Amino acid sequence: MRKIFIGGNWKCNGTTKKVGEIVAFLNKGGDIPSNAEVVVAPPSLHIGSVSETLRKDIQVSVQNIWIEPAAGAWTGEITADLVKDFGVNWTILGHSERRKYNHESSEIVAKKLAVALKAGLNIIACVGETLEEREADKTMDVVISQMAPIVAAVSNPSDWDRVVIAYEPVWAIGTGKTASPEQAQEVHGNLRVWLNEKVGKEIAEKLRIIYGGSVTAKNCNDLITKGDIDGFLVGGASLQPDFLTIIESAKLKAKM
Ligand code: PGA
Repeated sequence: MRKIFIGGNWKCNGTTKKVGEIVAFLNKGGDIPSNAEVVVAPPSLHIGSVSETLRKDIQVSVQNIWIEPAAGAWTGEITADLVKDFGVNWTILGHSERRKYNHESSEIVAKKLAVALKAGLNIIACVGETLEEREADKTMDVVISQMAPIVAAVSNPSDWDRVVIAYEPVWAIGTGKTASPEQAQEVHGNLRVWLNEKVGKEIAEKLRIIYGGSVTAKNCNDLITKGDIDGFLVGGASLQPDFLTIIESAKLKAKM
């Protein structure tokens, strides 16, 4: 049974006051379901204070790392080694907003993934198609073209234990248009079949494939009960107490 993964991607949100409020509602929330793992990714400015004040059964992630591993003359960047040294064990990589606004290609994402693995980090690696690509029936082609460099970048099979794949259709991110449970399941299922061929059954069965894109307290239960949906990467709703309801949805999976 794959452990459910619930990620909160705060993106570039959170004044000091708002961050305090988010930490407060998370700290007041109930127990994390025993079949779930929860990770939140605040803006880097707030990583220190969130790490100190947040309950210890919720982990902290950065939202990106620099492509070079070691500390050095990289103005404005944070390297994997610094992240690890700070005691943060996770990074998001390849989010569609970085692919779009920071021109990160799948090759760059894969290189960062290799750097993060080498530094000992865990990774939430994001893939997903645009609306145009979906309408042109290219969803799986796009997802596989983004996955292939990731597969090539994982040199040690045991490193897959530190990778979570987030399927985030670009048209569903921040738009309120969630993929239907059937649409998401179809991609997750196809991706697992493809992974089966590329990395073998054992890894494909163990790898968590989570869904992201307008996940809310209202739609999470229908999504989580699909066989190949192993959790969520949540943007907007992770800034609200609704995130606690989304965490709770993991319990439904335990009953399956
Ligand atoms: P959203 O963002 O939940 O606000 O759609 C998801 C994401 O970008 O990770």
